[in-house]
Amino acid sequence: MTQGFEDALRERYDHFYGGASHPPANGQYLEVEDPSNARVVAHAARGGDADVRAAVDAALAGFQAWRALLPLERGRRMLDVAQLLVRDVDRLAWLESVDTGKPLSASRADVLTCARYFEYFAGVADKLLGEVLPATHDHLMYSVREPYGVVGHIIPWNGPITQAGRGAAPALCAGNSVVLKPAEQTPITTVEFARLCMEAGLPAGVVNVVTGYGPEAGQALVEDPRVRRISFTGSVVTGRAVLRAAAERILPATVELGGKSPFIVFADAHLKRAAALARKAFVFNTGQICSAGTRLLVHRSVQEAFARHLAQELRGVRIGPGVSDADIGPVISRRQLERVCGYLELAQREGARLVHGGGRPRMPAEVQDGYYVEPTLFADVSNSMRIAREEIFGPVGVLIPFDTDDEAVAIANDSEYGLAAAIWTRDVGRAHRLAARLEAGQVYVNDYQPIGVEAPFGGYKQSGYGREKGLAALHDYTQLKTVIVYRGDESL
Ligand code: NAI
Ligand code: MG
Repeated sequence: MTQGFEDALRERYDHFYGGASHPPANGQYLEVEDPSNARVVAHAARGGDADVRAAVDAALAGFQAWRALLPLERGRRMLDVAQLLVRDVDRLAWLESVDTGKPLSASRADVLTCARYFEYFAGVADKLLGEVLPATHDHLMYSVREPYGVVGHIIPWNGPITQAGRGAAPALCAGNSVVLKPAEQTPITTVEFARLCMEAGLPAGVVNVVTGYGPEAGQALVEDPRVRRISFTGSVVTGRAVLRAAAERILPATVELGGKSPFIVFADAHLKRAAALARKAFVFNTGQICSAGTRLLVHRSVQEAFARHLAQELRGVRIGPGVSDADIGPVISRRQLERVCGYLELAQREGARLVHGGGRPRMPAEVQDGYYVEPTLFADVSNSMRIAREEIFGPVGVLIPFDTDDEAVAIANDSEYGLAAAIWTRDVGRAHRLAARLEAGQVYVNDYQPIGVEAPFGGYKQSGYGREKGLAALHDYTQLKTVIVYRGDESL
């Protein structure tokens, strides 16, 4: 590791609930690894039923304390959280890079995005409006949005601190308290975030964290009957398991699952810019992004030219450990590396043509145990190949040619997923026609995911349901109550 915030790294990350640290009830810890060099850097509590029960106890008390505050006051304290995140951005970014392998600049951006979620939703806390609804002359009918109570958030490892903010900020804005369960691979910044929330003056129990494995701590959170809403981000397989458990007790859920998002390049596109943004779309964060643009649908007439531009972009990608702040770091774990490498081999067996990358880069001795993989591009891919259908979650893009607009739409929509889509054309009419026809929760024209916090985000089809980000997120964290009052003459 380079000089950084080694002193900020704790030996042990205990659960954090009710405003204090708590060791695990079973006394067990799991190893926290830096994927940049495969070294164990810390240990985190291995949570189970008893820890979740205690955290939910704390969250129930937190909910009462939070609810007792005026919305205005909740908003102010959320702004204080944002300010502390900005104050501590360097420390938190360093910890995030060590835990995830992300480049430092990307971690910094993630911490600042977390702050931005708090800023954005702080401003909404005192503007959550109800409605007066037209009814009979003798009735006044109005609706109000109320919090659920305790909300559970199950967070993946690809963006721990942003996703903690993405889930917690709208939930808190609406008056809920939260219990966060970070991924077992990346618990550090979620615990640090909860501590900062305390420092910012959120009452004890408003933000709580239980660390540990999914089938233990995560499942216990979904099954605790006092948790009234759940948000889950991760794989489709685990999402299904969470929804099955949620169905048992009619627990409402927001699920944000995977993607295989199309990036459609027409012949009239600005090819150089499209290639630069394609690199961002499937290489950024080493491809570990649910909305990664991994299916590059390119008009046959510009296929070779686009591939040349993109290969040049990929040659410029610097790979290195998170704290070295290269362009990309490693993938998260040995398991993920094996998954991605499995797809690289599969691509060759399926008959795809390798244009760039395709294996593991040579790395300096001190980081050669890290989980690095080259940005990779395959051409001559058909949409029926598994590498075009399955989420790889590594820096792997596939080029699929098309001839007509209808064919582009048909290929784009021929996927179990529907998270994001991009259209590259200078024809305004075509851009809007396609935007209307694509089955995706977000559509970009001549850009890739340029807006974060303010833009409602979520899936069509197996990419999930519910919406995160933007004001739309508030629907998921509030329940609607309608009040109907007789105001007619009581003598009648
Ligand atoms: P996962 O979906 O199993 O893990 C995500 C979160 O769910 C973690 O916090 C985990 O502890 C928790 N979890 C696991 N089992 C659970 C259960 N039974 N009940 C409650 N919570 C549970 O993802 P995994 O295995 O780490 O990654 C596998 C693949 O999933 C990746 O290769 C990628 O394709 C996809 N993925 C997608 C993400 C996205 O942002 N859409 C994020 C992470 C993974
Ligand atoms: Mg880690």
